[in-house]
Amino acid sequence: MFTVRRQQPFTEEHESLIIGLFDRPVKFEEKLLELDHSFSGQLTELVKSGDISARKEQIAKIHTFGQIPSKRLYMIGLGKEKESSFEDIREAFGVVFKRIKKDKLEETAIYLDSFTTEKVEALDVAHALSEAFALATYQFEDYKQKPNEPEKCIERIVVYTEEADSEEINAALTVGYAYGKGTNSARTLVNTPGNLLTATDLAEYAKELAEKYSFEVEVLEKDDMIKLGMGAMLAVNQGSAEPPKMIVLKYQAKDEWTDVIGLVGKGITFDTGGYSIKTKAGIVGMKTDMGGAAAVLGAMEVIGELRPEQNVVAVIPSTDNMISGNALKPDDVIMSMSGKTIEVLNTDAEGRLVLADAVTYAKHHGANYLVDVATLTGGVITALGTETTGAMTNNDEWYQQVFEASIEAGEPIWRLPIFEKDKQRVRNSKMADLNNSPGSEGHAIMGGAFIGEFADTTPWVHLDIAGTATTKKGGNLGPSGATGVMVRTLALLVERFQ
Ligand code: BES
Ligand code: ZN
Ligand code: ZN
Repeated sequence: MFTVRRQQPFTEEHESLIIGLFDRPVKFEEKLLELDHSFSGQLTELVKSGDISARKEQIAKIHTFGQIPSKRLYMIGLGKEKESSFEDIREAFGVVFKRIKKDKLEETAIYLDSFTTEKVEALDVAHALSEAFALATYQFEDYKQKPNEPEKCIERIVVYTEEADSEEINAALTVGYAYGKGTNSARTLVNTPGNLLTATDLAEYAKELAEKYSFEVEVLEKDDMIKLGMGAMLAVNQGSAEPPKMIVLKYQAKDEWTDVIGLVGKGITFDTGGYSIKTKAGIVGMKTDMGGAAAVLGAMEVIGELRPEQNVVAVIPSTDNMISGNALKPDDVIMSMSGKTIEVLNTDAEGRLVLADAVTYAKHHGANYLVDVATLTGGVITALGTETTGAMTNNDEWYQQVFEASIEAGEPIWRLPIFEKDKQRVRNSKMADLNNSPGSEGHAIMGGAFIGEFADTTPWVHLDIAGTATTKKGGNLGPSGATGVMVRTLALLVERFQ
């Protein structure tokens, strides 16, 4: 896919050549002077006339008519150099890759050095480039009689740089590409409808991942769950015709099974709400209620590719939430694996039930640090909107690590509190130790506080992605639909963990 050459790109022949253009005073900087000379100064003229613009995300496509060996130039505006961040550069690559895909070209060269700044050095640019390439060209194959067959897409990218060692650039390209691919895998899982992605399918997918990356894999069946006393998980599955699965993947890169990071992802393949049934508008889209599971599996793919020196256990409780004569009812009291009993006040608050047993099981597998990811509450969308993931924690230091990873990944999270009085609300039940729905005030916090009861003293961060797992409008780095949010945050967290 990627080839790196330690030279300038102007003497080689390519279908297209991508060049970044910063908004700088006067005229072309030195790096691009030679190119301008090949066009007898015409590029400078085009900049003057505004046909080539350094404004952010503006693209100028120039047919070169033999003035240089490459057939087309794509000049992408990057705005002011001093203000340009890693994310801006990644977005710019997204814009240009989408355009080249639309133009149906199969090959392109990139002059990497035209994208570097004082802050964003060549290796960062390489990461941004390959990640953006994977993300921006992502496409979900639909099920139409005439399907949207995968469009012709760029197959070869030649990266030109004189600013860094080719091996290091290659390594950065590999990392960025792995992050992008892992995110895309999560997107595909989330976009797949519930009838085509059951808990059994999700377990099969996890087994294939385990096979590919030599993870240890365990899939608990219903009987295993009964033996282990996973009453909360079983309660949610009770009304379903589909068997539940508790999926476990283990990645061990340290000699000892210590400092284990537990990644737990809500895997509800369809959420009807159960007897606390959703409205006909609210139920549409609930195939995406396994977005947490997808994020964890996507991150495991990245981990499998890049093999960081860490220990990770992934736990995914998976079932659908359905209605039948056997289904869970409001007022039922159930017992979780931890021994804590739960009064069910709302069967639509099913995510916290399956996560209760999954968190307990992750600890059972030795998790010393926990992150759970879940499309948990509509409340988080009201609180934070659709750009920011809601976070809650019982440990400031662990939260800080997750926060830093999320910022670096460009997937912002923001913390909501869990105060003692919030805990009291989930502990308020005449019938049991906990209730699963203390009322609509502070919805998102109640969800977090409930799961926190099972994390107990283990450092834990809860990420509520109900607002961020999908997007109505596509952007430079992907179409509308599933975003694959938190894949990169989790993978970075693991990579950087100390
Ligand atoms: N899966 C939903 C949350 C959700 C809502 C995800 C919108 C994506 C988009 C969850 O299981 C749920 O139904 N939560 C309830 C909780 C309530 C019953 C305590 C909610 O948020 O309304
Ligand atoms: Zn629900
Ligand atoms: Zn749900």
